Amino acid sequence: MDSQFLPSFPSFPLLFILHILILHQVPSCSSNPDEHYKNCGTAFSCGTITGIQYPFRGYGTPQYCGYPGLVLECNKYNITTIKIMSMAYRVLGINQTTQVMKIAREDMMESVCPQQLVNTTLDYTILDYASTNYMNLTFVFGCPPVPFDLPGLNLLSCGDSANNAAYVLPGAEGPGYCKVSVVVPASGIQMGFGGSVNVTGLGAVLREGFEVKWKVDGKACRDCIGSNGRCGYDITKHRTTCYCPDPAYTGSESCKVDTGASSTLNSSAPTSFVGPSSGTPLFSGK
Ligand SMILES: *[C@@H]1O[C@H](CO)[C@@H](O)[C@H](O)[C@H]1NC(C)=O
Ligand SMILES: *[C@@H]1O[C@H](CO)[C@@H](O)[C@H](O)[C@H]1NC(C)=O
Ligand SMILES: *[C@@H]1O[C@H](CO)[C@@H](O)[C@H](O)[C@H]1NC(C)=O
Ligand SMILES: *[C@@H]1O[C@H](CO)[C@@H](O)[C@H](O)[C@H]1NC(C)=O
Ligand SMILES: *[C@@H]1O[C@H](CO)[C@@H](O)[C@H](O)[C@H]1NC(C)=O
Ligand SMILES: *[C@@H]1O[C@H](CO)[C@@H](O)[C@H](O)[C@H]1NC(C)=O
Repeated sequence: MDSQFLPSFPSFPLLFILHILILHQVPSCSSNPDEHYKNCGTAFSCGTITGIQYPFRGYGTPQYCGYPGLVLECNKYNITTIKIMSMAYRVLGINQTTQVMKIAREDMMESVCPQQLVNTTLDYTILDYASTNYMNLTFVFGCPPVPFDLPGLNLLSCGDSANNAAYVLPGAEGPGYCKVSVVVPASGIQMGFGGSVNVTGLGAVLREGFEVKWKVDGKACRDCIGSNGRCGYDITKHRTTCYCPDPAYTGSESCKVDTGASSTLNSSAPTSFVGPSSGTPLFSGK
């Protein structure tokens, strides 16, 4: 009998239900779009950094309001910081038009030498150096004593003893004969004798920081704001999304209602607003 083979196949009703679920996917984040719209309405302001919007979000605002990794924190001195690969950086400026942010290592704001023995590493999925107008410096710690003065070697005061001398060198270097090396980028470094780093005023130069560019494509958010929506981040689809005020729903790109679509389900049809460019890559890759 042929029917004895049927149980080995997935049952038809189950397939049918799966089919329906796939075709009529409930839009993600639709649990309470009105709340999303309301909660993502505040721009981040702290000290001299003001009115910062998506892709950034303030620490403490919901995850769905900003891009992962672009979370700004305001400390009690009204200083803005951001964590990149677990390292804290001070935010010195943000230009939302050029998508450039100026940052400096927080552990070097008080000292010329890095206090955390960690290389400066960007999260290249979202950030990159904004210009080539910077150079790497390497701080080496725990170096053996050098019996004579080498002109290219700049002994730094952060070395705790003659046996643990610290130096700064140009470029991104390994520790060599020393114990640890820490790479720090900076712009405006003055070179001294024989290609060495001029350490006069080095601390001040490092506190000026360096520029990074965020790679999140701004178009989706501009379209959203242009249609009176507020930008957010779709945690499941890993992309920019749009929260709309009235009727409250999560659109994929913008809140513009297609007037041609005389749908009777006008507030529950967000999928009809998915435009042909919804597959626009998030990253411009520039
Ligand atoms: C931080 O900024 C807020 C709002 O501008 C202000 O009320 C507060 O006094 C500032 N705090 C410090 C320590 O400057
Ligand atoms: C951002 O950069 C552009 C181009 O350099 C400049 O015109 C604009 O004034 C800057 N905006 C801010 C807020 O600094
Ligand atoms: C600085 O070092 C990083 C690696 O630590 C490297 O990716 C980058 O290209 C270097 N930049 C310059 C200007 O040498
Ligand atoms: C920093 O990067 C250099 C290579 O650029 C590497 O040799 C060194 O071990 C790194 N230092 C730390 C603390 O990871
Ligand atoms: C080092 O920098 C200081 C301050 O910028 C400058 O006055 C000095 O001439 C520089 N030294 C050399 C050797 O370039
Ligand atoms: C469609 O939306 C408009 C404006 O939000 C509303 O006035 C109207 O009642 C809605 N129609 C239906 C059938 O839900």
